[in-house]
Amino acid sequence: MTKLKYEPKNLLDSFCAQKLVEHQFTWCITGVAGFIGSHLLETLLSHGQKVIGVDNFIASDLSNLNEVQSSLTKEQWERFTFIESDVCHLKANHPSLKKVDFILHHAALGSVPGSIDEPELYHKNNVEGFLNVLELAKKLCVRKLIYASSSAVYGENNLTMQKEGYTGTLLSPYAATKITNEAYAQTWHSCYNLPIVGFRYFNIFGSRQDPTGSYAAVIPKWIQCLINKEQIEIYGNGLQVRDFCHVQNVVFANVKACLTNNPRLEGQVFNLSAGEPINLNSLAQLVIKKLSHSLELSDLSEAIYGDARPGDICNSQADTSKITQELGYAPLINLEVGLEEVINWFLMQTNRSPKSKVKFEYTLQ
Ligand SMILES: NC(=O)c1ccc[n+]([C@@H]2O[C@H](COP(=O)([O-])OP(=O)(O)OC[C@H]3O[C@@H](n4cnc5c(N)ncnc54)[C@H](O)[C@@H]3O)[C@@H](O)[C@H]2O)c1
Repeated sequence: MTKLKYEPKNLLDSFCAQKLVEHQFTWCITGVAGFIGSHLLETLLSHGQKVIGVDNFIASDLSNLNEVQSSLTKEQWERFTFIESDVCHLKANHPSLKKVDFILHHAALGSVPGSIDEPELYHKNNVEGFLNVLELAKKLCVRKLIYASSSAVYGENNLTMQKEGYTGTLLSPYAATKITNEAYAQTWHSCYNLPIVGFRYFNIFGSRQDPTGSYAAVIPKWIQCLINKEQIEIYGNGLQVRDFCHVQNVVFANVKACLTNNPRLEGQVFNLSAGEPINLNSLAQLVIKKLSHSLELSDLSEAIYGDARPGDICNSQADTSKITQELGYAPLINLEVGLEEVINWFLMQTNRSPKSKVKFEYTLQ
């Protein structure tokens, strides 16, 4: 495997890194044991911050938190407090939530086909949980609440580039929960002046993303397949365009949105991607090419094709001019570097035999 040009891990721009040197804030991350939540946690602890994490493990287990712990020093890890709770039941008088500067709300169920199977469960987690977090943020008088929306809100429309302000026919209950979040967010901003910012994430990928199950995202799933000497499967004809974005860009945008004093951010929602659209056939070739530097893949270089899945959007490509203009965001990690980071991570997991087990120690509230 070629050496990475630069290390994506915990990377921020100099503005954010300097602000975090100057001030130790208290951050509350919901969904902290998940894929994106665990990256937010790792970056903030490694930059000297205090973090309170919330999760009920409905879609995760201890493994991401174990891995974050093992990558940090004891001093860094001790600035983390964990609350095992459903966000629907989190109360503002919780003793650990006395002084919270920022909330990064990432607790939700995130599968399009999963939501078609279990719409009520998705409503409870994603809408009722969100409403409770809004009330929590209001009572705690936080400096800012950031929440995760999704490109799924664009549904089906005729536009080549998805731009904030235009949405199409929603294709799943998951998309409906996210657009409901956006409506509530805008309302809590106009009624209660809540300082809230939403991001519509486009296909986020990175280390620690779950490759298993029928709902898995394509990049981790394909890498795991190829490492296991299995052929990768593409649903549909592979011409669907996606805008993949490395998770460290998401961490960076969350931190930057909290630390930037621009009132025009508040009450708004922004597309967040890396601005490098690619169709699934080309992505498959790129993943195969990158992995072939480390593994013998000669028999596996052809993908197999399955039926298109209900609820999948055909083209998902972000117009990022709004986030660039208002937040000064530009991706820190591009697709190629991001893919190398994930491939390295999967190869390390495979070579770690038996899988190392770190005892997870946290302050349970
Ligand atoms: N990963 C992506 O490509 C992507 C794209 C668009 C939007 N998003 C959104 O970003 C957020 C994080 O996504 P992720 O990929 O890290 O998902 P994830 O499933 O890895 O993490 C979500 C975490 O939230 C927890 N959770 C769910 N419901 C909860 C509840 N009611 N109370 C407490 N904890 C709860 C889960 O246990 C899990 O640990 C979600 O809101 C998701 O919809 C992700």
